[in-house]
Amino acid sequence: MLYNHECLPDERTERLARSARRHLERCCEREPVVVTRAPGRLEVLGGHTDYNEGFVTAIATEQATVVAAAPRDDSLVRAWSDCNESEAEFDLRRLDEGPWGAWWDYPAGVCAQLLKAGCDLPGADLVVVSDVPVGGGISSSAALEVSTAIAMAELAGCEIEPEPLALLCQRAENEYVGMRCGILDQFSSIFARPGGVLWLDCRTLERRIVRLSDESVRFVVCDTNRPRELVGSAYNERREQCERAADLLGVRALRDADANYLAAHGKLLDDTLLRRARHVISENARVQAGVRAIERGDVETLGELLNASHVSLRDDYEVSCAELEAMRNAALAAPGCLGARLVGAGFGGCVMALVQAERVDEFAAQVGHQYEAETALRAEIFATRPSDGAGLVVKH
Ligand code: GLA
Repeated sequence: MLYNHECLPDERTERLARSARRHLERCCEREPVVVTRAPGRLEVLGGHTDYNEGFVTAIATEQATVVAAAPRDDSLVRAWSDCNESEAEFDLRRLDEGPWGAWWDYPAGVCAQLLKAGCDLPGADLVVVSDVPVGGGISSSAALEVSTAIAMAELAGCEIEPEPLALLCQRAENEYVGMRCGILDQFSSIFARPGGVLWLDCRTLERRIVRLSDESVRFVVCDTNRPRELVGSAYNERREQCERAADLLGVRALRDADANYLAAHGKLLDDTLLRRARHVISENARVQAGVRAIERGDVETLGELLNASHVSLRDDYEVSCAELEAMRNAALAAPGCLGARLVGAGFGGCVMALVQAERVDEFAAQVGHQYEAETALRAEIFATRPSDGAGLVVKH
């Protein structure tokens, strides 16, 4: 069996798949040969630790991207996305004409990597339907990469194991799109499972699912709807700063330093690098403490760790913004909130709150109201449970 497993489509996936199939029939008068699904992710703890070879914890969201695909006789990929109903066309033999600075850079980058890996890709008609908020920090890009990669590899009859597939999607983003992301998003989208939180060592790629037994809490996504700007450049800049800090500290990566080491050698760093390193080092410790808290079912401690993570991302790593702060303050003031932090790269996007299950509706109403009053932006708020990793929905 390719990939982790076939998805047992839930209602949401069925709905997305129906819509993708309908569009493929309408635009191209074709039935899909494969339909794939890849979820978004919520990083529970472990902000900006992945590219420092550190630790992360994440869940897959119920919100996902579905791709319906049918092969073509030529080398063209025609791709349609339900986001802005936008259409694209690129030639598999002329991928060096990109990137175009558009959403189809992700599928094109994935195709470039599959070709490099020796897959004999056919051209394809692709329809992408998604309910993962775009650019919201919950990894709509990895969901698009992974769902496209599985679909195209299936059309080519090319067997790729899940781990190399995740790495291939990361390379697509690093090399084609130009975002030097770590491995968190692609691994979460593939290896997360329901009923628990994925723990990942981003150096060794060792991973496990930590069972989350407490049914009394929900992860609630609060989307600021503030478009993220300069994410790529500011993100790559943070990454370079971490590399420089590790160099000056004399370690391979910040993963190899702890708080004591930083206290002893921190004078080698200027103030900015010291704060970047302090964030990464303390965040790695929070991930490990978070795993212990989840194992004990101690959601109060988990909530406190989320709060400490946010403060560190805001003050030491400087990846927050006014809208994220307004959203988080609204979340902290709302009923049932145990803790809240920004997720993903930052500079806009979403706050994730840990909320008592029976108070989610009340929470969402109050946060939405307060955020909108303060920023004049519309908040999108929804709860999600840990869901399944990516897979095939249908293959004919
Ligand atoms: C983005 C990147 C990830 C990770 C997060 C921050 O989502 O794609 O690799 O670095 O930011 O944790």
